[in-house]
Amino acid sequence: MERCKTDISGFDELVEGGFPVGSLVLLTGSPGTGKTIFGLQYIYNGAMNGENGIYVCIESTPQALKMQAARFGMDFESLERSGKVIFFRVPEDERKFGIFKKIAEYSNKINAKRVVFDSLATLNIVLGKFVSLWDYSSNKNENENAVANKIHSSNISSFDRMVIANSIIEQLRPIGATTLLITYGNDSLKKMSYNEASEFLCDGIIEFYNLPIGIKYSRSMRVGKMRSTKNSQYVHEFIITDNGIVVSPSEAIRFE
Ligand SMILES: Nc1ncnc2c1ncn2[C@@H]1O[C@H](COP(=O)(O)OP(=O)(O)OP(=O)(O)O)[C@@H](O)[C@H]1O
Ligand SMILES: [Mg+2]
Repeated sequence: MERCKTDISGFDELVEGGFPVGSLVLLTGSPGTGKTIFGLQYIYNGAMNGENGIYVCIESTPQALKMQAARFGMDFESLERSGKVIFFRVPEDERKFGIFKKIAEYSNKINAKRVVFDSLATLNIVLGKFVSLWDYSSNKNENENAVANKIHSSNISSFDRMVIANSIIEQLRPIGATTLLITYGNDSLKKMSYNEASEFLCDGIIEFYNLPIGIKYSRSMRVGKMRSTKNSQYVHEFIITDNGIVVSPSEAIRFE
């Protein structure tokens, strides 16, 4: 099976050398656990090795993301200039238009092999505001509009949320890129993605933690699932260095 390598230090060996090409992988965890840094490294390392990528920014601006990346020595400006990476900022007033068509367009333009969607959680948590990503504007079908109206009301059932998550995932899948969907989960991860659907619909899940051990917090990750892969069954500690994420090869090896 063809694998999409992250080249994030210590990570690929947890998933038999990389994500299965074309898979949709959910990254979930509390705020500040390293999901965005992982996503930026994934896109950067790909572009440096001939696999172009699109970073879909819903939460942050490209400027803020590029500044964050620069702290880890990733120069996205030159990759953008040479057409290897596109930061697709979804402006608030355009969130109801064809975002997925736009992603597909950009993907064709630069022959993207990788996509990061940051984040799916925004869509599901701040639903009333962000759900307008749903591409109903171009569809005059009555039922679709009824769904859209319902979405915009504040009373959204978990079934609606599942329908929305399903729709997003099904619209991203045909684009064909190996895609990371960043979402939000609390540290107990009882509700890993807040929409009760994406964790079942995705091909893989990486959970990110930042948990107290004595007086210190320790970062770790676990591969929750990875279809077609004999993935690691351990919780792996990781650190964020000046060069980005470094994952420990085994639960037995600690960084201090
Ligand atoms: N230069 C750095 N060196 C070491 N650690 C850093 C550095 N910059 C950020 N961090 C750590 O990384 C965390 C942010 O990581 P990141 O933005 O990837 O989190 P996230 O999981 O995407 O969070 P959110 O859900 O809020 O978007 C910071 O809270 C900080 O602890
Ligand atoms: Mg983030």
